[in-house]
Amino acid sequence: MITRSAHCSIKVVLSVSLVLSVWPTSGQSQTNIGQSSVINEYNAIHHPVVGHKGMVSSQNAAATRVGVEILENGGNAVDAAVAVGLTLAVTLPRAGNLGGGGFMLVHIAGEQRTVAIDFRETAPALSSPDMFFGSDGEVDNTEYRSTHKSSAIPGTIAGLDHILRRYGTMEWADLVEPALRLAREGFPVTEDLANNLRVSKSRLMMNPVAASIFYKPDGQEYEVGEIFQQPQLAWTLDQLKTHGAETFYQGEIAKRLIEGMNNHNGLITMEDLKNYSVVEREPVRGTFRNFNIAAMSAPSSGGMAIVQMLNILENFPIRDLGYGSADAMHIMTESMKLAYADRSKYLGDPDYLDIPVEKLTSKVYAKHLAEGISMENARSSDDILPGDLSPYESAETTNYSILDEQGNAVVNTYTLMASYGSGVVVEGLGFLMNNNMGNFTLRPDIPDPFGLMGSVDNQIMPGRRPVSSMTPLMVLRDGVPFLLTGSPGGSKIITTNLQLLVNVLEHGMNIADATAAPRIHHQWYPDRLEVESGFSPDALRILTGRGHNLRFSAGMGSLQTVLFDGELYYGYSDPRRPGAMSLGVQNPRNWQ
Ligand code: DON
Repeated sequence: MITRSAHCSIKVVLSVSLVLSVWPTSGQSQTNIGQSSVINEYNAIHHPVVGHKGMVSSQNAAATRVGVEILENGGNAVDAAVAVGLTLAVTLPRAGNLGGGGFMLVHIAGEQRTVAIDFRETAPALSSPDMFFGSDGEVDNTEYRSTHKSSAIPGTIAGLDHILRRYGTMEWADLVEPALRLAREGFPVTEDLANNLRVSKSRLMMNPVAASIFYKPDGQEYEVGEIFQQPQLAWTLDQLKTHGAETFYQGEIAKRLIEGMNNHNGLITMEDLKNYSVVEREPVRGTFRNFNIAAMSAPSSGGMAIVQMLNILENFPIRDLGYGSADAMHIMTESMKLAYADRSKYLGDPDYLDIPVEKLTSKVYAKHLAEGISMENARSSDDILPGDLSPYESAETTNYSILDEQGNAVVNTYTLMASYGSGVVVEGLGFLMNNNMGNFTLRPDIPDPFGLMGSVDNQIMPGRRPVSSMTPLMVLRDGVPFLLTGSPGGSKIITTNLQLLVNVLEHGMNIADATAAPRIHHQWYPDRLEVESGFSPDALRILTGRGHNLRFSAGMGSLQTVLFDGELYYGYSDPRRPGAMSLGVQNPRNWQ
């Protein structure tokens, strides 16, 4: 293919932008970024929720309410984050968890410091690179996805305990209480939960304990509005409340967990649990226009990729090209491919690998990459055999974002990996275990369940943490959190977050319009540009003409976003996942 020189292609974009700049670019709100008037601007289509003294945004309304209650009772964002994290394990069992892990960004207002908390699951000591290959040399997909063996050592309880000890103000027992109450007394089954359990039935019925929890004794599904109680989970939460987080790693919970592992060929041992530790890391940092970005560092690839893509985009007049224009979509797609290509080569567990973060996130490197983007042609990725993605299509992770009145903030993205994780509930514990061993690279020529490629540096090794796409992120203005966001979506997490940032920081949309706007996704391999419905057919035709291999996609991600403009708190929960809710602290009654 003939590609125009980069210098020349950028000139083309600039001249197009001169023409476009006299027109409204997209029909979206052109609000000045961060101004408090966003709520009242009728040129915006969607409007965020407003709070006066803080905001909680999560994928489950009951959990959001718990978080707001903690803030209203004087807890800080960290206290609320602990309670929300535990509650989601009860009310959003497909992703909220005790048996998984994740990443958090915590901003401590008093110290003007943002820290990245790595509570990612870790490979057990007995794991090995070939543990999921059968004697025929093929990957045993059942072992890999749906067994005790597919679980890595969980980090969630250690992570929540860690932030509370360091940065919280309330008692652990008081923060466990709301989740315990919801598990013990039950809660009315929501439309979302009923529907999700219906869709996941065949998978959950494979594990007798899961079947006995999520369905009635005769195997029937729970109806909307019926009270759903989880006595086994209540036992576990009661242990946690009474004996603290240690009991998960060394006490009664640990004993039951290991018994289950021993009875079903799982690899996790008591020693593994005892050795599990949370790591505080430096966030990946970058800038975009005049904003400071802090995002999750390795073993998540998200921060690196987001900063790299923003750096590339800074070389183009994206705002002038306009949201949804073929040119803007083309440039964003080409940036995505470049970042995901680097992800496959350079990312791994930073405790075992030197990751060239500075180079990957440097403006100079990004400029070089930007110069290689042709405006006329999509760059092709080599053909590969795509992985079988079907079992993971409805996979779930979840994110929540919390900002309090003092300016403390927590963004937590945590996961069981697939929807309901491995589908395994250990007898007597009532919570699902992760199948996050699936985020390791089995072999560099085998894509992961999301189709992502990886290197030998992400192969299974005892003590290693698998590369992740989970990307809690914050935008700071003058050292103060301005925007918090994060999303589920497997490999699409990174591009989902990127588009929220570009829509707000570049296109000037409020967070509601920015969230609702249709998304695209490209991950280098497989070589296809996924698009949600709602884009202009004209733009899509132009993209196809440039060589993009277009595919329509189901809704991508579920952003849970908070924005603080210096005066008011805005929240918005992605409409792509029903049941989510953002709620402000001390909103005037009868307003919204
Ligand atoms: O860490 C990761 O990248 C994956 N375990 C995330 C899984 C996920 O987002 C599934 N949800 N939609």
